[in-house]
Amino acid sequence: MAGLPYIVGNWKMNGTRAMLNEARAIDRAAARFPKVQVGLAPPATLLFRMRDAVELIGVGGQDCHASENGAYTGNVSALMLKDAGADFTIVGHSERRDYHRESDADVKAKAEAALSAGLSVILCIGETEAQRDAGHAEAVVTAQLEGSCPRMDGAPDKLSIAYEPIWAIGTGRVPSVEDVAAMHKAIRTRLVAIYGESCVDVRILYGGSVKAENAAELLAVPDVDGALVGGASLTAESFLSIVGAAA
Ligand code: G3P
Repeated sequence: MAGLPYIVGNWKMNGTRAMLNEARAIDRAAARFPKVQVGLAPPATLLFRMRDAVELIGVGGQDCHASENGAYTGNVSALMLKDAGADFTIVGHSERRDYHRESDADVKAKAEAALSAGLSVILCIGETEAQRDAGHAEAVVTAQLEGSCPRMDGAPDKLSIAYEPIWAIGTGRVPSVEDVAAMHKAIRTRLVAIYGESCVDVRILYGGSVKAENAAELLAVPDVDGALVGGASLTAESFLSIVGAAA
C-alpha cells in the first residue's frame, strides 16, 4: 500500500448547488476516518463552491486542457482548476477517451499540465469488454499506461492510476478479485519499468461499480490502494460506506 487508501468520488455530469449538502456531510464524516484520504470531483461549475464548503476532503476536476489558456471554447485548464481551489484532477477517463476521442498522447499532455499547475493527477486506464474477451486486457491496459503516463520530476505520490474496466462502469458488474489482482499487479510492474522503484508511492485505484456491498472485498485485493467511485459517490450515505470500508 502506497500511503493512505484513497477514495475518490467522480460526480461526472451530476450536481447543482443543492448537492453541496452531500459534500458537506461527507466532509464532516471524514473526521471519523483519519486513515483514509477522501476526494470529490464535482462538475467544474461546483468546484469553487465545494472548495469553500469543505475542510477535510480534497476537491478536484474531472478533466483539464493541456494548454494554460487560449481559444479552446468550453475547456478548462489545469491552472484554472488550481485557481478554483482544486487539489487534483482526473485525466483520461474512458468517457473522455471515448466521447472526446482523447488519445494516450492527449492524456499524457493533460497529466503533465496538471502536475505543472501543482495538481495531483488521477490517470484512468481500462479495457473494453471485447478486449477482455479476446484475452487482450492486460496488453491494452499496460499500453495505455505506457502511452499516457506523464514525465515526473517531482514526487511520485502526486500521481495515482485508476484501473477502470469500461464494461464495469455503471453496469453493476465487477471483475473477479483474481482478475483485479492480476491487473493491478501488471500495472505495478509496468509502473516500475516506467518510473523505477520510486513508483511505490503511486497509488493504483480500482473503479467500476464500486458499492457499499463490494467495497471491502475489492479494497482488500493486493495492490488496490483505493477506489474511484461514480454512481455510489452521489449520496453521502453510499459514499461514506465505501470510505468506511477502506478505514
Ligand atoms: O470514474 C468512476 C467511474 O467511471 C465508475 O463509475 O458508476 O461504475 O462507480 P461507477
